[in-house]
Amino acid sequence: MTDTDTSTEAGTDTKRATGAGAVAPAGAGAAVPPPPLPPADDFDRDELPVPEGATGALLRSLLSPRRRWVAVSALLLVLQQLAVQAGPLLVAYAIDRAVPALRADDHGPLVLVGAGFALCAVGAGLFQYAFVRAAARVSQDVLLDLRGRIFRHAQALSVDFHERYTSGRLISRSTADVESLRELLSEGLQELLSVVLSFVAIAAMLLWLDVGIGAVAVASFVPLYLLVQLYRRRAEVAFSARSTAIAAVIVRLAETVNGIRPVKAFRRERANEERFGRLNRVHERRNGDAILEMARYVVGSRLIANTAVALMVLWGAWRVADGTLALGVLAAAVLYVRRLYDPIDRLAMFLNSWESAAASLAKIAGLLAQSPSVPEPVSARELPPVPAETPGRRVVFEAASFAYRTGGEVLPRFDLTIPAGQTVAVVGSTGAGKSTLAKLLARFYDPTGGRVLLDGVDLRDLAVPELRRGVVMVTQEAFLFSGTVAENIAIGRPDATREEIEQAARAIGAHEFIASLPDGYDTDVRRRGGRISAGQRQLVAFARALLADPGVLILDEATSSLDIPGERAVQRAMDTVLHGRTALVIAHRLSTVEIADRVLVMEHGRVVEDGSPQDLVAAADGRYAGLHRAWRESLVG
Ligand SMILES: Nc1ncnc2c1ncn2[C@@H]1O[C@H](COP(=O)(O)OP(=O)(O)OP(=O)(O)O)[C@@H](O)[C@H]1O
Ligand SMILES: [Mg+2]
Repeated sequence: MTDTDTSTEAGTDTKRATGAGAVAPAGAGAAVPPPPLPPADDFDRDELPVPEGATGALLRSLLSPRRRWVAVSALLLVLQQLAVQAGPLLVAYAIDRAVPALRADDHGPLVLVGAGFALCAVGAGLFQYAFVRAAARVSQDVLLDLRGRIFRHAQALSVDFHERYTSGRLISRSTADVESLRELLSEGLQELLSVVLSFVAIAAMLLWLDVGIGAVAVASFVPLYLLVQLYRRRAEVAFSARSTAIAAVIVRLAETVNGIRPVKAFRRERANEERFGRLNRVHERRNGDAILEMARYVVGSRLIANTAVALMVLWGAWRVADGTLALGVLAAAVLYVRRLYDPIDRLAMFLNSWESAAASLAKIAGLLAQSPSVPEPVSARELPPVPAETPGRRVVFEAASFAYRTGGEVLPRFDLTIPAGQTVAVVGSTGAGKSTLAKLLARFYDPTGGRVLLDGVDLRDLAVPELRRGVVMVTQEAFLFSGTVAENIAIGRPDATREEIEQAARAIGAHEFIASLPDGYDTDVRRRGGRISAGQRQLVAFARALLADPGVLILDEATSSLDIPGERAVQRAMDTVLHGRTALVIAHRLSTVEIADRVLVMEHGRVVEDGSPQDLVAAADGRYAGLHRAWRESLVG
């Protein structure tokens, strides 16, 4: 299905590419409409909504703690601009005063001009230096803060969010998007401020030098302002599209790398390359759109600038000839106007970094505006202490119903009581809702109706550390974090000593293989030689769970990678880890199920059989009995 999709799209692409190539030479001079964008992938669906005003609020919350340094930076920039903009004024003074004075043998004014220039040059340099340092301080702080916020927030968001929002997009938020904000803060903002300041300073000086000439310059600001507004509107669209497109490129790259094994197994390289190429071209096209907008702006602004200069020079020259304008003033005015329009191209650059940062900031704000669907309790409750005679905790599902965001109800209305210390095995066909049940108990999700209770306390009211101690879930993935084997086991209880870690590993039967690793417990699991097999990973995950010593333990297919010859060892490990606690074990392997006190058979989100393994096997026409018979026969065969 996907294969056909890809090849059709790739086919369309090729056709389009040759079509465009054939048209281009013939169409020289004629306006060739750009070929339509390649079909966009599913990446701009599901962009998070950005609440009204969230972007501005985010920027304010980033800058306001650093208000003082922002103010210092702004002040330094004003001083620097004053020093820079004094130049033409000194030229006017030199032409109109110092030269005539020199003719009268008075060197004073010329010396004054020279000293003024030197002072301004040194001042401008010093202020610039101080500004760069102050601004860097602000921008570094802001970026540090923002990256930290993205990380913390992403981690705080619930499982269902991460199922929708791909990791590639998160990576893009905290790299490409933070980077575009960095550009704005470290270069763009300085550009903007200096351009605005020089506009104000120059306009003031021109008006002061000569009202008429100044008025022409100021009048030219009006079309320029309109052009800037138009450009901003169009650039905003272009940059938002560009940032979405680069995120899509990152998403595709991340997905391919994460799934490199299936990619290799199914020889998906070509197909992936085509899809990647398509996204890459979308990005290129969107980038091209953004550049085109900028080119239009530059042409427009130059046109306005040159017209203004021409008008001023013509009118000024006429007035100098007339005697109503001093030559020095005209010279200074022309210098100023040149300076005025010099930074215009840079202004476009700045607007680019502004638009691109605004688009990025909006996306980050959208992410930060998401709230976890499994929130921390407002007033947290604690679990009662576990009495010595009843190990583990009592679990109750009370009319609990659940539906994933997408799709229908998985658990219609679920009632189940698991007494403390009981080991319950859950079996049932694929998609019956077993993992969903487990995830509700681990509070990865909250039920859409009803409650899940742990020793009579609603999971939603449990304080986070209580929940962590109360329920632990081990899944098939048995994920290992970068770090040593010992560190990975200690995730179960960070304050555990090395003895306790080893004890847990021994109890599970993981000690032998760990001891045989190159550095034993100190082997880095991500380094060469530290790679461990899927079954070994599950043993490490078991040791981690044992060390955590939770009141309720959930195993979801957690023994699926352990080999059958090692079955006895697996059973021993299971006995150890399940002892003295309430347990929910989801397993396809019936040997694992047999150690349970009670078996639940689930179909379509309901319990269809419930009893001890012996009773269920005895019920001749039962589902479990059927499964059991098939399993026995497979063993014999
Ligand atoms: N994250 C999800 N988003 C939407 N639907 C989901 C999600 N996870 C599971 N489902 C749906 O919920 C139903 C129950 O899934 P669940 O994972 O609980 O089944 P299961 O009994 O654990 O199956 P298996 O034995 O294959 O692990 C399935 O129909 C599945 O398509
Ligand atoms: Mg499952």
